[in-house]
Amino acid sequence: MNVLVLGSGGREHAIAWKIRQSKKCTALFCMPGNPGTARIAQNIEGSVKDFNAIKEQILRHDIDMVVVGPEDPLVGGLRDFIESDPQLSRVLFIGPGKSGARLEGSKDFAKEFMSRHGIPTAAYKSFTSAGLAEADRFLESLNPPYVLKADGLAAGKGVLIVDNLPEAKRQLREMLGGKFGEAGNTVVIEQFLAGIEVSVFVLTDGKDYMILPEAKDYKRIGENDKGLNTGGMGAVSPVPFADRDFMAKTEQKIIRPTIEGLKKDGIDYKGFIFIGLMNCAGEPYVIEYNVRMGDPETEAVMTRIESDLLEHLTAAAQGRLSGEKISVSPEEAFTVVCVSGGYPESYEKGFEITGTPYLLENRPDSPVKIFHSGTAVRDGKLVTSGGRVLAVTVNGKGIPACREVIYREMEKIGFTGKYYRKDIGLDLLGPKEK
Ligand code: AMP
Ligand code: GLY
Repeated sequence: MNVLVLGSGGREHAIAWKIRQSKKCTALFCMPGNPGTARIAQNIEGSVKDFNAIKEQILRHDIDMVVVGPEDPLVGGLRDFIESDPQLSRVLFIGPGKSGARLEGSKDFAKEFMSRHGIPTAAYKSFTSAGLAEADRFLESLNPPYVLKADGLAAGKGVLIVDNLPEAKRQLREMLGGKFGEAGNTVVIEQFLAGIEVSVFVLTDGKDYMILPEAKDYKRIGENDKGLNTGGMGAVSPVPFADRDFMAKTEQKIIRPTIEGLKKDGIDYKGFIFIGLMNCAGEPYVIEYNVRMGDPETEAVMTRIESDLLEHLTAAAQGRLSGEKISVSPEEAFTVVCVSGGYPESYEKGFEITGTPYLLENRPDSPVKIFHSGTAVRDGKLVTSGGRVLAVTVNGKGIPACREVIYREMEKIGFTGKYYRKDIGLDLLGPKEK
């Protein structure tokens, strides 16, 4: 099969890396890809938002399957565009159409979907500027902290957690006043859920589903979860507190009703669903849906899948997932993200990256894998080109062993301003491991 992966980050590098291992993969393309994917696939210049350019490449390279990394093209209707074009009708596609992508594209839609189908989530109400007085009254009825969410896509910045009422009211006015542009025309106010988060990943063909390995994401820039939110500073899979009992509840109360709900609503969903869950005293609650895989969780999750991902994706796209079985390594996958100094605020780029023999070569037998996020090649040298630069993954037995190997590797990587969190996984150590 000729496969095209859309996107340019560590998530797409990890997906491409896994697909490349399939015997069924004859040719692999990434658009636009990055220097890491260039070693395992043919990179194609272009934007994932340029649907006509994507069509041209599908036809030029005789693509059999398109796998979409980021949410933007899905929310923008890439699946609908491809399905409605007779020249592209035989192309298999991983990712929902516009109607399914509303699970991520509109928080108000996602909350209504959950309440319609009895899926546990925080109590909420949605407001527009016309309902400001009512929104104030709703805030007054809640206990702090207050959770305010812009309805639409806001590049991961649209959620505010505020610890006092006057500040919550002020932020509400700023959001409705255009702080996040149109994404904030509707604001969801919801109850604060106390607990620990876990990212659960599902592949579905719209009728059946396959649960992929779960992961814990480390979102804050600083150690001990301090400082600004980022796109993710590390990931660990499996997650000790997502044990058999918790995952069974998750499947019964959340995953099954989600797939059933999509069916009942007439939404034909073929692709990944990433469910951000809060474990509240052993009970799972949905924080958010995403219609794609997570980053950097994917860089950990893909390395634990032992079965053929391309076969699973083909089955999902063809609506025959019920016969598929995933095989997952019981060992830990441990990912640490190396970022540019200053990220997630302003940072400089263009610094040469040096250090490890794995920088461009992920050997299958090596315990260390490097997935590229924000890198570029300039004058024959690998340089930084983004805030999140590299995601380094180690596979091994137990968190302490993984930590030892990965942090040795992280020290070898060199570029001006390099930063990474040194506490990834510490919170998951068992009492005997501390
Ligand atoms: P979201 O973009 O919906 O994932 O929200 C971003 C982050 O805000 C989540 O990963 C949580 O850490 C936090 N968050 C969102 N909703 C809630 C909630 N109802 N209670 C507590 N924390 C929340
Ligand atoms: N790691 C969280 C996300 O991809 O949204």
